[in-house]
Amino acid sequence: MIVPGTASQAMAAELAAELEEPLAEVESRHFADGEMLVEVPPQDGRAIVVAATGSSDAHIQLLQLQDAVREAGASEIVTVIPYMGYARQDEAFEPGQPVSARAMARAISTGTDRVLVVSPHEPAITDFFTVPTTAVDAAERLAEPLPGDLRDPVFLAPDHGAIDLAESVRDAYGTGETDAFEKHRDRETGDVEIQPANLSVAGRDLVVVDDIIATGGTMSGAIAALGEEPERVFVGTVHPLLVDSAHSRLANAGCQKIYGTDTIDRSVSEVSVAPVLTEALRD
Ligand code: R5P
Repeated sequence: MIVPGTASQAMAAELAAELEEPLAEVESRHFADGEMLVEVPPQDGRAIVVAATGSSDAHIQLLQLQDAVREAGASEIVTVIPYMGYARQDEAFEPGQPVSARAMARAISTGTDRVLVVSPHEPAITDFFTVPTTAVDAAERLAEPLPGDLRDPVFLAPDHGAIDLAESVRDAYGTGETDAFEKHRDRETGDVEIQPANLSVAGRDLVVVDDIIATGGTMSGAIAALGEEPERVFVGTVHPLLVDSAHSRLANAGCQKIYGTDTIDRSVSEVSVAPVLTEALRD
């Protein structure tokens, strides 16, 4: 049975349909003191808990769901984390700081037999889990919403860390060149400085892809650094966090279309990661 966290219901429904497994209706409530409580239906065999952890409450709810399905009779628990919060804190950046991704991974590992994490910022964070854990790359899904008539397309990554992502999207689309910007983020201020990529984009369709769009600063900075007028600009991301005025920021930067997957449920979540998860779960 697929058992969704509150934030992952749409994605879990897609997964249930792909896997032809029942979808649990989870009861979830808050008490007056702020504590949460979930309730799951009776379980039998494998339970697949699907819960993005984009907020502290979602983290707690995931731990509760894992415990609840075990109590309700599940003999095996697989945890699917469509979007893992705190994954970008994968090292102690200053003395006295935690490796938050490790702390989260250890807590999640205590309640499950296996974990699948969709497109984590650094696949190496899978080593922080203490049960078998797989990073499932969903980048190929970002090719699907693109129009079939892209003009001489360039698939751009806003930094070198995302070049694999740009290549995966290009490969799934079937044609085009790839390139990456040089990005530097000031740790104190959070300001992003971006140097342009090498390829000429004048008159061509541009697809800028990244694993996460949070404030939109990285993406809008990349587009502003182009120095040339592309034909159209498409912006795709696996995890469309889109906090504050990120969407407006990108629209003002000249993006024709902003789209993402359903790892985070947003109005731009046009494509589901369920097919790649289904494949990983069948392995
Ligand atoms: C970091 O390197 C990530 O890949 C993203 O580029 C970053 O998290 C995006 O954040 P923002 O939208 O706030 O610039």
